[in-house]
Amino acid sequence: MVKICCIGAGYVGGPTMAVIALKCPSIEVAVVDISVSRIAAWNGDQLPIYEPGLDEVVKQCRGNNLFFSTDIEKHVFEADIIFVSVNTPTKTRGLGAGKAADLTYWESAARMIADVSKSNKIVVEKSTVPVKTAEAIEKILTHNSRGIKYQILSNPEFLAEGTAIQDLFNPDRVLIGGRETPEGQKAIQALKDVYAQWVPEDRIISTNLWSAELSKLAANAFLAQRISSVNAMSALCEATGADVSQVSHAVGKDTRIGPKFLQASVGFGGSCFQKDILNLVYICECNGLPEVANYWKQVIKINDYQKNRFVNRLVSSMFNTVSGKKIAILGFAFKKDTGDTRETPAIDVCKGLLGDKARLSIYDPQVTEDQIQRDLSLNKFDWDHPVHLQPMSPSAVKQVSVVWDAYEATKDAHGICILTEWDEFKTLDYQRIFDNMQKPAFVFDGRNVVNVDKLREIGFIVYSIGKPLDPWLQDMPAVA
Ligand code: UDX
Ligand code: UDX
Ligand code: ADP
Repeated sequence: MVKICCIGAGYVGGPTMAVIALKCPSIEVAVVDISVSRIAAWNGDQLPIYEPGLDEVVKQCRGNNLFFSTDIEKHVFEADIIFVSVNTPTKTRGLGAGKAADLTYWESAARMIADVSKSNKIVVEKSTVPVKTAEAIEKILTHNSRGIKYQILSNPEFLAEGTAIQDLFNPDRVLIGGRETPEGQKAIQALKDVYAQWVPEDRIISTNLWSAELSKLAANAFLAQRISSVNAMSALCEATGADVSQVSHAVGKDTRIGPKFLQASVGFGGSCFQKDILNLVYICECNGLPEVANYWKQVIKINDYQKNRFVNRLVSSMFNTVSGKKIAILGFAFKKDTGDTRETPAIDVCKGLLGDKARLSIYDPQVTEDQIQRDLSLNKFDWDHPVHLQPMSPSAVKQVSVVWDAYEATKDAHGICILTEWDEFKTLDYQRIFDNMQKPAFVFDGRNVVNVDKLREIGFIVYSIGKPLDPWLQDMPAVA
């Protein structure tokens, strides 16, 4: 029986291993983590992450061929294939601060593998890492090998949160990078055999190590670039009277461009896009390619611009001040169908409004008060460390209350910001909400989910990203 161990029971490791266990009954899969509470949650009724369909998969396999454990060394020792899916935060100090990936957790995982292994292993890079990390890991392992043979593979994960199970069941492709030696090719084949149990062979691509590592950064950069492109257009649409949804639709009909990932928004978030682009930028700079670095930097600059533009639009519309005014925040997660708040645009928007002394009442169906308070107190880039290594529990932000209902959040508010595209926000009783708000009542839709005409009929002043402006907003001073 093949044994797999995955180090890191997070958003990537957990769902990926659960699906491997489901699809490969003859493989024993152990997911290990240093976080005791995270492993306890994976073994309990309330899984540590919210992901549609994940519960069913875990329930079917847990205790049969899927195990969650903190006994890292035992499972690494026993495994034939070890996936490494640990955090790779952005460095906050030292060389490359604010850009380079911090490989501390990776290095410590590699050293531990070298310490406990007594048989040959295939070590698989699963978390996104800078190009040439595999080489560094290979060096750590071979210099500490004591006669054991290691093969390093890069097998980046392309799942998106909220659709992780669907993406894992039916991936566009599985990418496996390895050494071009006979041993390297044998290791690639061993991992191919795992995926081939449910993924059609023509969707399993093999490349050299560096191509696999760079493809992951490139894919995320291309996806983020589409969003920044459409968001840049949204600003121009507002200035000219074009409608960004109509523009996206028309542009996306070109089969060379395609319709996906053209949804204008308050900005992209998530644990990958910004981090991976910063990393790409750093790699370009280190390789003497400043023009290429600047090209990709612009994708992040437009994303920051879009979040600022949203806050400025809101404040200028509300008579240039939100001081002491209650603003309802609907949605805090970085996208719908997840409770994940890593790099969510909601953090920057909320911090912007708090900077102008607004009072915020926040509702998200999947994010806890604790998480929101933590997010609003942590410094940039501090989120991506295991919880026990994060700064001490921050004190609550007093101007913020977190509620469990959109009607409660909007009661007596002056304005509403929609920051996540949760389906339930489309069908709220906006007449009831309007009746309970201060007047004039504003809606700022950062995700284009509301029916603008209907809300204007009710009496709201509505701003929706990239849509023709409400006459009220046209009269307000231009925003930066
Ligand atoms: C373009 C648009 O495709 C067309 O829709 C519009 O109406 C006019 O402009 P055209 O300039 O005729 O058409 O050719 P196109 O096939 O788009 O190529 C433009 C340039 O891009 C060429 O120099 C081509 O060699 C280059 N190109 C295209 C690449 O370098 N790489 C590619 O992947 C595609
Ligand atoms: C992304 C990649 O899609 C995935 O392949 C990779 O493995 C990890 O990073 P994820 O961050 O989970 O996945 O979600 P994604 O659906 O890509 O959304 C990222 C952000 O972009 C979200 O904030 C989303 O709201 C935003 N977005 C997405 C838009 O603003 N407009 C769009 O058209 C699409
Ligand atoms: P991702 O979204 O890439 O899955 P997460 O932050 O959700 O990232 O998960 C990474 C997990 O890796 C965390 O649960 C963290 O506790 C775990 N981790 C980090 N370093 C180690 C290590 N050396 N050994 C075991 N687990 C680790």
